[in-house]
Amino acid sequence: MKGTQVAQSLTLLAPAKLNLSLAILGKMDNGYHELLTLMQSVNLCDVLKFQFASASSVTHQVNLVVENDTTRSDFPLDDTNLIKKAANLFCKTLPVLPPTKIQIIISKNIPIGAGLAGGSSNAAATLLALNEYFGNPMTMFQLLDLGFQLGSDVPFCLIGGTSLGRGRGEKLSHVSFKTILYFVLVKPKDLFVSTAWAYDAFDRSQAGLPHTDLESHNQKLIAHLLNGEISEAAGLFNNDFEPEIFKHHAVLVKIKERLIELGCLSAHMTGSGPTIYGLTQNLNQAEKILASILQDHQLHVDCWLAQSLSYGAKVIENGKD
Ligand code: C5P
Repeated sequence: MKGTQVAQSLTLLAPAKLNLSLAILGKMDNGYHELLTLMQSVNLCDVLKFQFASASSVTHQVNLVVENDTTRSDFPLDDTNLIKKAANLFCKTLPVLPPTKIQIIISKNIPIGAGLAGGSSNAAATLLALNEYFGNPMTMFQLLDLGFQLGSDVPFCLIGGTSLGRGRGEKLSHVSFKTILYFVLVKPKDLFVSTAWAYDAFDRSQAGLPHTDLESHNQKLIAHLLNGEISEAAGLFNNDFEPEIFKHHAVLVKIKERLIELGCLSAHMTGSGPTIYGLTQNLNQAEKILASILQDHQLHVDCWLAQSLSYGAKVIENGKD
């Protein structure tokens, strides 16, 4: 371990993730599904503040508090929360760390059970925060490995930006492009989809598509993004979960159609849903479309503007003494 413990508090951003493409290639022997997916970080972010103090006890003490909403029954504060799981896994992996009190105050902005990888991003931020505080005892490679033990999306959330993911989504090839993408995100207020349920539903539906030339599909998509050809890229966005999840939740079809009607270049579900994102031409158009969705009282939805980010979870404030 390098250095001494100097940071007393760290504040991190934990950005949400969109799947610009998502193909399910099949079920693996371990029960997980093999994917080919282009993922994108966006600036809908949770903010996590970590306060560290040395503990008089023999073990670490991790305490989690929600700053902006204390009544969320869907956001447990016990050891089942991915933030606590990440902190506990980090400390267990490095038993030499001095016993420390870790208070984590989260401002939760990313909706839960929405397909936006909020929990995974929180876990990624936690691993980065603890690593920073303890003097970077782990390499990024080791953090990615720990992250993968916590969830399939955690490695992407550590790296962020734009990446093509293979395997469970953890084998990442980073893509770097300059164009900023502007999205409108729409989620039915009372609808949450469990990822495990969505994969089961996909399996039961036998929706295994005849995937022809997926690699070249994604390479074309990436080439369009690199060239700033946003409309062409939008035409290649896709998500294999859509047919099955849409069968169960017709409101999502309505949202998708509405986004296209309002002028989005394309509209798709992210991950296992239910959030639908529409890609727009620019910020101005995104703002107009957001306003129209907000005025539509028939749609009982939450919606957000979001733009692409070139990074994932990261430290934004370091309260060193
Ligand atoms: O990895 P994560 O904990 O996010 O996955 C949640 C659930 O989603 C898993 O328990 C599994 O049922 C399903 N899953 C899958 N294949 C993947 C990712 C997730 O079957 N590539």
